[in-house]
Amino acid sequence: MKLKISSVYFIVKILIILPVTTLFHCFDVWYHYSRTITPSFIRRILMREAFLLGNSEICADVINPVFEYIDSFFLQDYEEIGNCMSEDDYQLIHPRLKIGSPLSVGKQYIITKYVWYSKPSDFDPDNDPVLVFSHGGGFAIKLVPLSFNFLNNLSRYFPRMGIIIHDYTVSVDEDGEHPLNLLETTVLYDYITKDLNCKHVTLVGESAGGNIILGTLQFLQKTGRVLPEKVIVLSPWCNPTYDSSYSDHRRSLAYSINKVMDALSFEGLCTFTKMLTPKSYMYEDDPMLDIESNFDDKTWHKILAKVSLLVVYGTDEILQHEIKDFIKKLDSLPSNNFTLANNVSIDENGGHIEPVLNMTLNLEKWSQEPTIASILDFLKPL
Ligand SMILES: *[C@@H]1O[C@H](CO)[C@@H](O)[C@H](O)[C@H]1NC(C)=O
Ligand SMILES: *[C@@H]1O[C@H](CO)[C@@H](O)[C@H](O)[C@H]1NC(C)=O
Ligand SMILES: *[C@@H]1O[C@H](CO)[C@@H](O)[C@H](O)[C@H]1NC(C)=O
Ligand SMILES: *[C@@H]1O[C@H](CO)[C@@H](O)[C@H](O)[C@H]1NC(C)=O
Repeated sequence: MKLKISSVYFIVKILIILPVTTLFHCFDVWYHYSRTITPSFIRRILMREAFLLGNSEICADVINPVFEYIDSFFLQDYEEIGNCMSEDDYQLIHPRLKIGSPLSVGKQYIITKYVWYSKPSDFDPDNDPVLVFSHGGGFAIKLVPLSFNFLNNLSRYFPRMGIIIHDYTVSVDEDGEHPLNLLETTVLYDYITKDLNCKHVTLVGESAGGNIILGTLQFLQKTGRVLPEKVIVLSPWCNPTYDSSYSDHRRSLAYSINKVMDALSFEGLCTFTKMLTPKSYMYEDDPMLDIESNFDDKTWHKILAKVSLLVVYGTDEILQHEIKDFIKKLDSLPSNNFTLANNVSIDENGGHIEPVLNMTLNLEKWSQEPTIASILDFLKPL
């Protein structure tokens, strides 16, 4: 691996500045907000401050290669599948494509990568559930190795369940422009439902992955596909192209507290937004990207009649406001079975995607953590 000067500079900053800022912010949380400094707080602040020391190039040059290297110890090699977009698929996105889009005529063969994280040797697609995991990372970062405790314990808790990890193209990759990640998710979904004939599919996405899942779900509905049985989104990033500098949320008192506690900062999110914002796709009013601010009530009404949805967020999160607005809109749709009691799980004092990152190794204790328990309960076969 050849290191650029900017990468070396980033690593030096991580070694020298990060411990100091982390210590300072932990002190702040304890002194001003009287919260006990748990390992979770240290992890959150490390994540947030480390990302602020970098820039967009650091994702491609340092973070992704390191994550992919670590991930390779836990995973088999990714497998590649591909499919041509159907006429319906193309018609749906075509009006939004600008000249020069990588998805314009002639390049509609979509390739994507996935791996079985776990699969019973006698997996039965008719009866056994399969869970597709879409990781987060601001659309730019690969699977965070910290997710493996969640996936591993999930597979032990549900030994008959297959788990597939989706390695979608990230925004820092060449041509990794929205809606490619959504089309890739659709290719994988078609493969699972049509080629493998799986009958009990659950889509799970965290953070940016939650956005991709919520976007894909609308895409599946609008193109007339059979929808998944269940969907779980953890801390979904609902309005990722929205410039938060002008939002009331960012000026609110709640934010001034949450920003001290969370693993994300709006400054960091801005970096992701810049990398994500499509150049050759008209995204401004797209309900499949800014899910909440462009909420498509007709489509969501149809989706909720067929899919069981669970939305999870933490009360220390900076993204909770737009997630709550999204929940309100779902809840106010006429005649559906979406209820705050059954379909929303609130992680008290939890930060961004906390249940995915919980490092409790003991399966018993892990499964009793309230938010994780609600996820497990939701996943229980009917
Ligand atoms: C919603 O409730 C109705 C009536 O109880 C039921 O038929 C339908 O299957 C439910 N839909 C979902 C997604 O749970
Ligand atoms: C809400 O949650 C319940 C219980 O898990 C589930 O049966 C139902 O289908 C969900 N409804 C919607 C609309 O997601
Ligand atoms: C996991 O969750 C439990 C219960 O909420 C909490 O006490 C513990 O600190 C968490 N562990 C980590 C490392 O996040
Ligand atoms: C949960 O996952 C961790 C990390 O992979 C593992 O060490 C632990 O044994 C798992 N718990 C159980 C009970 O399988």
